[in-house]
Amino acid sequence: MFSCKNEEHEYHSVIEKIESESKNYHGVSVTSELYFEDTDMIEISEDGQSFLIPDRKGQIKSFACTECHSKPLEQMQSENLKKAHWDVSVAHADLNTMNCVTCHNPENMDNLKSLTGNTIDFNASYKLCSQCHTKQFQDWKGGAHGKQIGGWAPPRASMTCVNCHNPHKPAFETKWPARFNTQTIKERNN
Ligand code: HEC
Ligand code: HEC
Ligand code: HEC
Ligand code: HEC
Repeated sequence: MFSCKNEEHEYHSVIEKIESESKNYHGVSVTSELYFEDTDMIEISEDGQSFLIPDRKGQIKSFACTECHSKPLEQMQSENLKKAHWDVSVAHADLNTMNCVTCHNPENMDNLKSLTGNTIDFNASYKLCSQCHTKQFQDWKGGAHGKQIGGWAPPRASMTCVNCHNPHKPAFETKWPARFNTQTIKERNN
């Protein structure tokens, strides 16, 4: 047997130290809920993975759309010559691939629609994106693409696609590093 000084905070081994100092740690619970703040969260389930994502309907300024879209879009467009959504333009896929009604349902504006015409709830807009961005969707489902709210603390909560990507203009602007940068100087002088 090795002698031990047996003073407080001295241990035979690292393992012993960890075990001893974590004794009071049980019962302290880590939870992602601390990070939700005022955001309402909804639970989704995809291929056996259940997790929380932020509610969107409460965040969309012009929701409910049917406050104005009470009749078919074509009829509204023939009556109204002014552009209602002048602040929305699409810079996503090219216009042969995608226009407003690729994603929005002209028969019922309160919902999105799939490429085959099925209804998609605004809170589940990731289902819209996943039709074309399968790889990112798979990664997101597994927790690899996009941010986990509160890290991996339970319950699992993830940001949804539209929390980070504007569906109308999904690319991020190029950003310069925050540090002073000679490239910027060169470009300013050009
Ligand atoms: C304040 C009234 C109002 C609200 C609220 C509103 N819209 Fe509209 N929207 C209009 C009018 C009027 C038109 C027709 C004129 C036009 O095409 O800009 C229109 C047109 C559209 C079009 C066709 C645009 C085009 O260029 O073909 C889409 C798509 C659309 N709305 C989606 C939505 C969605 C989605 C919502 C809810 C998130 C919404 N709107 C909420 C008034 C509104
Ligand atoms: C790639 C799919 C896609 C296309 C194309 C698209 N939208 Fe959207 N749009 C969305 C999604 C998804 C949301 C909800 C975003 C969110 O949750 O914040 C949305 C939200 C909106 C809103 C509500 C925004 C707000 O904050 O009030 C309006 C209005 C709208 N779209 C109009 C249009 C119009 C007009 C066009 C065509 C010029 C268009 N969208 C094209 C997917 C699309
Ligand atoms: C109908 C197919 C389709 C749908 C639906 C769709 N996208 Fe896209 N998306 C494309 C295409 C095509 C491109 C351009 C080609 C590329 O860069 O891969 C693109 C590009 C992107 C890019 C890369 C932009 C860049 O240049 O860096 C992002 C991010 C993106 N989409 C996010 C989304 C999100 C979020 C949604 C759901 C709201 C969505 N997409 C829905 C087809 C789609
Ligand atoms: C927490 C923020 C966040 C969330 C949530 C998120 N993304 Fe992204 N996404 C990013 C970042 C950051 C990039 C890298 C952009 C770059 O390199 O310019 C990216 C890149 C992309 C790209 C471009 C190709 C690539 O992989 O670089 C696509 C497409 C895309 N995301 C789709 C999606 C879809 C679909 C979802 C939802 C299923 C989603 N994203 C959720 C932040 C996010």
